Amino acid sequence: MRSLGFRQRAHNRYWWHRLAMTDYVPMLYEFLDEDEWSLLEQWFDDTERQYPCTGEAGIPALSMLLGLISGNGLSRVVQLGHYVGYSTLMLGFMARHMRRRRMLFSVDIDPAVSAYTRSWVERAGLDEHVHLEVGDSAAPGRPEQAAEVLGGAPQLIFIDSSHQYAHTLRELDLWYPALVPGGLLLMHDSSDFARRFDRAGGQGVKQALEEWIAANRVTSLNLNGFVGGGRPGDFPYLDGCGLTIIQKSGG
Ligand SMILES: C[S@@+](CC[C@H](N)C(=O)[O-])C[C@H]1O[C@@H](n2cnc3c(N)ncnc32)[C@H](O)[C@@H]1O
Repeated sequence: MRSLGFRQRAHNRYWWHRLAMTDYVPMLYEFLDEDEWSLLEQWFDDTERQYPCTGEAGIPALSMLLGLISGNGLSRVVQLGHYVGYSTLMLGFMARHMRRRRMLFSVDIDPAVSAYTRSWVERAGLDEHVHLEVGDSAAPGRPEQAAEVLGGAPQLIFIDSSHQYAHTLRELDLWYPALVPGGLLLMHDSSDFARRFDRAGGQGVKQALEEWIAANRVTSLNLNGFVGGGRPGDFPYLDGCGLTIIQKSGG
């Protein structure tokens, strides 16, 4: 039954399904129709064969994202970092269920993974809901490009890209002003544990966020920000990589 079989799979990406308290199909997969679930299963199999590290954000973060989008009728969403397509497919499926055209503008610097993601977006019939770009997410002009594609300023921005300290600061400076008043910015990998994902040798997303939030005095919540390597399941929010939610002031 849907993802229940993932409990028996050994790959690290199925860590959520192997936990003692998650022997059910998450809401995230329940809303998909049969064809969508079948396509997602094929995507899991193919990515597992082709990519040793599959790199997706996972069920806790995607449940937050899709809950916010579906629960609030959002229609303009930006993603920085699509990699091989998990969050893109999930956001695209939600856009189709909500009957939103061009709901997602997503950018990634890697042409090869972008081509792979594009092929799955097409195969899923999500082209009219998802717009993919190849290039640096912190390039000047990117927010204007996104607003043009989406038909207005983004209501929600999901950042899951370089994980590098300096680049994250540039993304925050560029994208926060582009949000609508009251808009939401979600940053994956904002825990102490995730500092190690900074391949430039810096202190990663968490350090950048702490400095940027203090300097700009914005409202934020870093879920599991304190986790330095605790096992998944030790805390109510299950993802040890953390997720920060920032809301732009409404004034
Ligand atoms: C963790 S993966 C994204 C996973 C995806 N959000 C998901 O949940 O399926 C990070 C992606 O960010 C991309 N990336 C790294 N540096 C970037 C940059 N400067 N601009 C845009 N994308 C970048 C990488 O190419 C990689 O595909």
